[in-house]
Amino acid sequence: LKKITTLRLSAMKQEGKKITMLTAYDYTMARLIDSVGVDILLVGDSAANVMAGHSTTLPITLEQMIYHGASVVRATEHALVVVDMPFGSYQVSDEVALSSAVRLMKETGCDALKLEGGAILYPLIKRLTTLGIPVMGHLGLTPQSVHQLGGYHLQGKSEEDALRLEQEALGLEEAGCFALVLEKVPATLAERVAKRLHIPVIGIGAGSGVDGQVLVSQDMLGMEESFSPKFLRRFGQVGSAIRTAVGDYIEAVRDGSFPSESESY
Ligand code: KIV
Ligand code: NA
Repeated sequence: LKKITTLRLSAMKQEGKKITMLTAYDYTMARLIDSVGVDILLVGDSAANVMAGHSTTLPITLEQMIYHGASVVRATEHALVVVDMPFGSYQVSDEVALSSAVRLMKETGCDALKLEGGAILYPLIKRLTTLGIPVMGHLGLTPQSVHQLGGYHLQGKSEEDALRLEQEALGLEEAGCFALVLEKVPATLAERVAKRLHIPVIGIGAGSGVDGQVLVSQDMLGMEESFSPKFLRRFGQVGSAIRTAVGDYIEAVRDGSFPSESESY
């Protein structure tokens, strides 16, 4: 399998080939997922929830994102690796944002960065992309703004919100983004945006009329059994597979059948 590039993703949109993206935060999981041929691995700041148990993505730090990003890059041969810029690493000023972006690129070896937000980010994204750092945009439900949004509900519902989202999607493309994530928006709106944009639009809770899909791996593998939004399909029962394996281990240790003679030196 050849390494995926932003050019390849653009060609996939032109050819009508759906783009597949999943999150990864660690070496072992990234190796497994990459070996099957997923197009994009996202080192999401959802690591704050999935890896660290926080209730929002806000607490994760730049250093922690670098640790996760470098771990995933070491595991990956095929997928394009995108790392989320964490909350606070790009909002304070463009100087802070640039130094955060440079650190993420240098210290993880990733291929691109993702930033949440619309019009406010146009100048920064222009600068980053001009300097050679590929940027993926993220509109709709942007979890770093959960306190401003007042929760994790559907975005772009009103005519006014839908129109603004569409304008901002066009603006992000114009600013230089190579792709855009749309999270939790009506399928009709997402499809309209995907048709108007030349860059690939990757949806999560955004219906099937977009150019690709992304899910949090632990969610779609069935490892997080308490999170059940409508958009989530569980493609595996890894949570119950882990419980069964751990239960078998406990039993085998307790009854003395593990380790056996052949498992001993
Ligand atoms: O952090 C994340 O997992 C994400 C995806 C849900 C798009 O940003
Ligand atoms: Na994210």
